[in-house]
Amino acid sequence: ADALKIGIAGLGTVGASLARILQQRHETLATTCGRAIEIRAVAARNRAKDRGVDLANIAWFEDAVSLASDADIDVFVELMGGAGDPAYSSVKAALQRGIHVVTANKALLAAHGIELAEIAEKHGALLNYEAAVAGGIPVIKVLRESMTGNTISRVYGIMNGTCNYILTKMEKEGLSFEECLKEAQRLGYAEADPAFDIEGNDTAHKLSILTSLAFGTAIAAEDIYLEGITNISIEDIHAAADLGYRIKLLGVAQRTESGIEQRVHPTMVPHDTVIAQVDGVTNAVAIESDILGELLMVGPGAGGDATASAVLGDIADIAKSRPGAQHVPAFGRPAKALLPYKRARMQ
Ligand code: HSE
Repeated sequence: ADALKIGIAGLGTVGASLARILQQRHETLATTCGRAIEIRAVAARNRAKDRGVDLANIAWFEDAVSLASDADIDVFVELMGGAGDPAYSSVKAALQRGIHVVTANKALLAAHGIELAEIAEKHGALLNYEAAVAGGIPVIKVLRESMTGNTISRVYGIMNGTCNYILTKMEKEGLSFEECLKEAQRLGYAEADPAFDIEGNDTAHKLSILTSLAFGTAIAAEDIYLEGITNISIEDIHAAADLGYRIKLLGVAQRTESGIEQRVHPTMVPHDTVIAQVDGVTNAVAIESDILGELLMVGPGAGGDATASAVLGDIADIAKSRPGAQHVPAFGRPAKALLPYKRARMQ
């Protein structure tokens, strides 16, 4: 079969990891997928920077929108981040050409996910975004495909690696909030603007995507009660520990009689629960449903390789798909069949 031609926009932590893995495992991937996966085009700011990737023979685009509009590719991989441009326009341009999109961009999906899903479906393109929520944990596939038919009552968890890393290191190593954040940035876990991590917005973006998948509704990121970890002190952590709790930044979405409730805030979790034991950059997502019961997934939530692993899985799915095959809708059901979002009445 012909090679799958991909274009990557963004060669930061995740993009560089992905490019390296695609080059190093080229042969194995070709065997597994039944066809080679080839990087044909790249758009990134600094061409000269050494990323440990061979960029010779790859078309270099100055901007992501031209790559998405003009490059000879089958898949547009968007790893720039940010809800606005160039991410939004480039993803839209690719989908309108019927080119599949793989993205890790939770902010973009929280703001425009349903609109993009509609465009994808109209043009027969796939919109895959496994890496957008909880890094390497395959929660999108689980909600979108594996749990079809279940009625889900609640989805919650630790969805920001940076915050969990900070809370863990403050408690276990007695380091200051600022020192822990710096270390999370150095390790490539934090957002370009880490305020999105520590103020809870990143968790809210991810939660809004899970809410849509879990309850079959439109995305409503603006309806989330939001509180980050910036006010948590080492004294708070110790006081909670004395009472038998650990403080975790949780995102919670649940079905209530009056509608859907979504919230993000630091939460006291009993120390003998699995969630309380989840340390460092690790994430955890719990899903409660009627047929399957309780599912808990724990795994790497951020970082170049863990995130690239999820992006690679999305690309491989496309490489393995047969031409003309029925596509899995981006949000589990056709975008037009998503229910309106109805918020829960607050007591
Ligand atoms: N900044 C994010 C985090 C990256 O710390 O979880 C993964 O989405």
